[in-house]
Amino acid sequence: MFAQIRWRLLLSYLTVFTSILVIFAAGVRLLFARSLTQQLTDRLTALGQGAATNAEFDNGRLKVESDFIVQQLIHKNQGLEWFNLNQKSILKQGNIGLNLPLSLSKSPIQFSNKNFNIQAVVVPIISNDNGKIIGYIRVSQSLEEVDETLTKLDLILGSSIIIALIFSGFSGVILTRQAMQPIEESFQRLKQFTADASHELRSPLMAIKSNAAVALKYPEKMRKSDVEKFQAIVSAANQMTHLTEDLLLLARSEKKCDRRENSVNLTAILSNLLSLYQPEATAKEIDLKSETGEDMYLLGNAGQLTRLFANLIENALHYTLSGGTVEVTANLVRSYLIVSVQDTGAGIAPEHIKLVFERFWRADESRSYWKGGSGLGLAIAKTIAQNHGGSITLTSQVGVGSCFTVRLPSVKISDNSQD
Ligand SMILES: Nc1ncnc2c1ncn2[C@@H]1O[C@H](COP(=O)(O)OP(=O)(O)OP(=O)(O)O)[C@@H](O)[C@H]1O
Ligand SMILES: [Mg+2]
Repeated sequence: MFAQIRWRLLLSYLTVFTSILVIFAAGVRLLFARSLTQQLTDRLTALGQGAATNAEFDNGRLKVESDFIVQQLIHKNQGLEWFNLNQKSILKQGNIGLNLPLSLSKSPIQFSNKNFNIQAVVVPIISNDNGKIIGYIRVSQSLEEVDETLTKLDLILGSSIIIALIFSGFSGVILTRQAMQPIEESFQRLKQFTADASHELRSPLMAIKSNAAVALKYPEKMRKSDVEKFQAIVSAANQMTHLTEDLLLLARSEKKCDRRENSVNLTAILSNLLSLYQPEATAKEIDLKSETGEDMYLLGNAGQLTRLFANLIENALHYTLSGGTVEVTANLVRSYLIVSVQDTGAGIAPEHIKLVFERFWRADESRSYWKGGSGLGLAIAKTIAQNHGGSITLTSQVGVGSCFTVRLPSVKISDNSQD
């Protein structure tokens, strides 16, 4: 149980930590990409402005001042394009030639070429004479370098996240173990207390029962009302004994039985139980049927397994009305023994199906035909099934009936000797 909680805690911690790291990495990447693009825009604008101050249009013809050597200024993956006022391309310089129409946007524009992305800025050419716009310059640069830098950043961020997760996974295992230790210890102390208290209650309960039984030996010497009181004392003491035994079993349930030592004949257990409960079924006019077939074996504790199936058969008989049917079937499916106890009783509402295996849970009294239980029977059955490496499931329909299915790992008869 605690191992499961530890893993769940670790998984939640890692999920939260991974989300934080991914959000952080995405933020860093976004800021870095923005900053790179902004730097590029500034560079291209400066280049465009430099080219614009040295350019002039005369009668639709471009003149670039002789001291402005374009080829020396522009980088190999940059391109310059001059346009007149009609947005007609007049001159192109550099390796990145754009054959796209001019777009007079103030913000940088991004295009996609066949092989790479391109960023461009458009700078107006202002006349030195009258300060009017006389044309435009579009400066472009391929984003290859930016993309390369971002790919490197992605690799660094990705590997950092993986390394951080590996380290935090290891430290998470240690931390969750440390955090769970006091809880595990106090849980063990609580279980020990329940086991000790249940154990210590046995003797006084026995004393109450035996004294009441001695008094009831001579009922003729007592008043009738006193006899009834003593009978009530015996009945309450029996109920308490049953309860303390159940609590003791649950408290000790974590100490798994050594299944390797005992091989148990499941078919024998079931047929013994069926004989035991047959009189009760006959008295209640319930048809108790069984279909168990040949001998089937499993490794476990015969006492606990008897308790498991007794609880299920008892429930089926208690919660089924006269005229109903209770059927016990056992089958070997691959390496598992599947035992089902099916009844035509009250049934269990869908919202209660998970609750029936909780300790002390009992359905609404009005639907429980049997008033004597404590609500521990199915919790015990589930614990025993789990202790034997198996499981117990329930399917039920209100007014139709219930079917409890127990799945337990089997052993081949040749691997063991009969109990
Ligand atoms: N076959 C069944 N049909 C209908 N309801 C059932 C059946 N088995 C169990 N239940 C419901 O589940 C509840 C829990 O069952 P569980 O066996 O744990 O306790 P209990 O029978 O009340 O008492 P005890 O501890 O003596 O077994 C029951 O009170 C009953 O309401
Ligand atoms: Mg029960």
